[in-house]
Amino acid sequence: MDDKDVKQQVREFYNQVGWKTVGDGVYQNARYEDLRPVSREYIHRCHLRINRHLNPTGDLLLDAGSGPVQYPEYLTYSEGYNHRLCLDISILALKEARNRLGEKGLYVVADVANLPFKPEVFDGLVSLHTLHHLPLPDQKKAYIEFLRVLKTGRTAVVVNGWTDSPMMRTAKPLIRLFEWFGKLVTGQRGEDKETVLKSACYGVEPPRKEPTGTFIKKFSPEWMKTEIAPLARYEIFCWRSVNVRYLRAVVHGILGGKLYLKLLYLLEEWFPKYYGEKGQYPLIVLHK
Ligand SMILES: C[S@@+](CC[C@H](N)C(=O)[O-])C[C@H]1O[C@@H](n2cnc3c(N)ncnc32)[C@H](O)[C@@H]1O
Repeated sequence: MDDKDVKQQVREFYNQVGWKTVGDGVYQNARYEDLRPVSREYIHRCHLRINRHLNPTGDLLLDAGSGPVQYPEYLTYSEGYNHRLCLDISILALKEARNRLGEKGLYVVADVANLPFKPEVFDGLVSLHTLHHLPLPDQKKAYIEFLRVLKTGRTAVVVNGWTDSPMMRTAKPLIRLFEWFGKLVTGQRGEDKETVLKSACYGVEPPRKEPTGTFIKKFSPEWMKTEIAPLARYEIFCWRSVNVRYLRAVVHGILGGKLYLKLLYLLEEWFPKYYGEKGQYPLIVLHK
């Protein structure tokens, strides 16, 4: 598949599936986040980590691959900015974003690897869970574009999943054990696992038979060192060290799941660089 076909496929997926609301009133895409009460506080606090690394005030914040700005925490990123420019390849994403941001938002359909803006116009930039939809050469182009449009002295925050997280690799037997046990206890858990597998956003391969996923190409700390380090100074912190499959399989209220996630959050806070490199989702801060 060439680059154009990839982008076309991704666009069609989000216009026709990802940003459509489904039965339970959430986006198809959000159904594959862990929305259970037991994980809510952990996920909420992970979302807020972005704010620490973003310049808190400014005129324009670029949200590259904004989607519909789907979670309430996302609104906090632009609180200190006059405008949030939402850029996405999907028109449906931007129509939905406009419902949330109204006049504060500016909306541009474009490709993150070819930004239609002058250099040095943005006071801040976020790009969340988007670059994995691009082939690796285009991911590098997107980083180059982010640096070009960002004002000097400002930061860009990128969150994306590593292709192969050592932590999640090590946890696989545990996940399988919990999934097997869950299936044994309640016949329904098997179905739950099946829906997790349909994730398009959070790093789990879609099942082969059903077209619920789209192109995903993720990256590694080594790729960052060879491709991005020559372009800019960057730091890797932890956004969230575990993926949705892990959460749904292993974390349960009845097993002290809330306490477990509090401890995990604290560990991520104490060792952000370790969990950022070894866990599933790094939070990358680019300095210009
Ligand atoms: C997984 S969603 C994430 C959306 C949002 N940032 C979030 O965290 O909820 C990925 C988004 O990136 C957009 N996208 C994918 N490839 C893109 C590209 N090349 N240029 C611009 N947007 C793109 C998709 O349309 C989709 O809205």
